[in-house]
Amino acid sequence: MVASENLVSSRMDRVLLRGKGSLQSQSFLYVAFVRCSGRPAQSGAMDRVTPVPLDSVAASNLLSLEAMPTDPAPRHYPHRHLLGIEGLSRPDILALLDMAEDAIGVSRQIEKKSSKLRGRTQINLFYEASTRTQASFEIAGKRLGADVMNMSTAKSSESKGETLLDTAITLNAMRPDIIVVRHSQAGAAHLLARKVDCAVVNAGDGAHEHPTQALLDALTIRRNMGRIEGLTISICGDVLHSRVARSNILLLGALGAKLRAVGPATLVPPGFEKMGVTVFHDMAQGLEGADIVMMLRLQRERMNGALVPSSREYFQFFGLDEEKLKCAAANALVMHPGPMNRGIEIDSSVADGARSLIREQVEMGVAVRMAVLEALAHHLPNA
Ligand code: CP
Repeated sequence: MVASENLVSSRMDRVLLRGKGSLQSQSFLYVAFVRCSGRPAQSGAMDRVTPVPLDSVAASNLLSLEAMPTDPAPRHYPHRHLLGIEGLSRPDILALLDMAEDAIGVSRQIEKKSSKLRGRTQINLFYEASTRTQASFEIAGKRLGADVMNMSTAKSSESKGETLLDTAITLNAMRPDIIVVRHSQAGAAHLLARKVDCAVVNAGDGAHEHPTQALLDALTIRRNMGRIEGLTISICGDVLHSRVARSNILLLGALGAKLRAVGPATLVPPGFEKMGVTVFHDMAQGLEGADIVMMLRLQRERMNGALVPSSREYFQFFGLDEEKLKCAAANALVMHPGPMNRGIEIDSSVADGARSLIREQVEMGVAVRMAVLEALAHHLPNA
């Protein structure tokens, strides 16, 4: 039935294989349920891209095999920019996720460089601090062969009073092909996109959206759970100020997840229910039976006034520790977009534990950003 597949993920007694099915050359995800011969589950122990013929899984260990066709979405992203998840269709999202699957393999090779963006200029314009997003956009652009320039507030003329728009118009005159922008103001990426000729990617605008984070989170979930549809996903903590939460609610909702928002009433107002999310103000109730527990950073820099008690009290009621995690499904997995505040929203034993996907999220960040840059490059002049 299957010639060979790439082993893309394994955890506990489940091995997720990706391979080509024979039906109309459509891509399938194969989930093989295997007996683990008592070996303790080790996060990432087999998590490498190696061609693994399905028949290499010993028949005596193979409990069952399920073939799950991925949506027959064409690998086509029809938009000039990526400004948010809002406005993207389900096929748009799936096209980016499927392109990212391919990019994972590229990043795991010794030779990581391709020429898909050769000759293109990518500017990373970051007005807010970033470790993961900026580094991964830089790595992604370089792996695709683009010339990448990083600009931060300290180095730009914003520190001399220049507006974002004047900076955008100035950079536009240098004929970049893609600008990746992070800004503290919601709507900054949309504003920029109206003023420049090149493609714009929103790398986070205030508390509004962080689309590539939601894409990488969805990719991580899909690879570990084999699906997103029907999963119960609890997004916990400072939902109010979180662009990550907003983009994830839009994206995971579009892919059929059952979403919960969990946190104190000051950080999870009832208005989120309008986005199709069930709101909980108690961790035990909000985590009950959840398949994915997604923790969020307490964003004190975006708070006006004291919305939470002391850090110690916050951790007691809303910080994720081993005890609270017991309320979730037995095989629940834990995520955090980073940066993490250990001992405030998450305990180190959970963040570094066997059920944590946090490091895998970072790896998926490079793959998703490669996919996004490549997708946008198709719409550039002379593409
Ligand atoms: N998750 C995220 O956006 O992290 P950075 O702020 O480090 O980019």
